Amino acid sequence: MTSRRVLPTEFPVANHRAIPYHAPMTDDKLNLSKLKGKIIAIDGPAGSGKSTTARLVAARLGYTYLDTGAMYRAVTWFALKSGIDPSDGDKLGEMARTMQFEFATEAEVNRVLVGEYDVTTDIRSPEVTLHVSEVSAHKSVRVAMVARQQQMAKEGSIVAEGRDTTTVVFPQADIKIYLDANTRTRAERRLLDLKGMGIDSSVEEQEADIIRRDKYDSERTNSPLTKASDAHIVDTSNLTIEGQVDKIIALIHSVIK
Ligand code: DC
Repeated sequence: MTSRRVLPTEFPVANHRAIPYHAPMTDDKLNLSKLKGKIIAIDGPAGSGKSTTARLVAARLGYTYLDTGAMYRAVTWFALKSGIDPSDGDKLGEMARTMQFEFATEAEVNRVLVGEYDVTTDIRSPEVTLHVSEVSAHKSVRVAMVARQQQMAKEGSIVAEGRDTTTVVFPQADIKIYLDANTRTRAERRLLDLKGMGIDSSVEEQEADIIRRDKYDSERTNSPLTKASDAHIVDTSNLTIEGQVDKIIALIHSVIK
């Protein structure tokens, strides 16, 4: 239980802040002038390693990490806590427009706060994971989230991660990367994440869930999971996290000159 207070009965006013993690000076940062203000969008299916990779790439560049999946999870968490039905698009859309949340990127974790509550762990719970595809498929929710994401990235220097960031949210991104991996590898990674949070599961269960979510997310009407035609595709099945980050940093340097 990570909630710090009793839930408010009214949605708090719209507010969001992303606090960048300032990494120590690295070789990448020596090239800050050429990289300043850029938008790097990373897309891909669940478990492709995009969250960890995006957070570490942002840290290496001194950028802000925008975890759009965490935003959809926060909406889902708040809806479940507030007793809003995951099929109620109108109420969810209003909530997505007005709820208050904040990211605080730390070295190891991207903290998510909804109003007063630290929901970093709770938004990864099986219950939220089960409902997030349905909640995020509502047009009303997507319109609100996309507007807030674009607002948060107004000044650039952002690594935005999420399945429509290269196609819908930031079609003008300076570099687009689509991370992919086979379903078994993705399930094994998710299982490790869950274990780290003390949540029990099996690789079969996670693989079945990933296949179910891929199908739902790629067949839905609003912002289905698609690859942007100008995205750089990186298969991470046989790469370590460090390998993925190095590969992407090299790609960024080769594209942004
Ligand atoms: O990346 P993730 O597993 O934390 O994302 C959780 C869910 O949110 C995912 O099932 C689909 C949805 N999502 C989305 O619809 N659009 C995004 N940009 C990011 C996530």
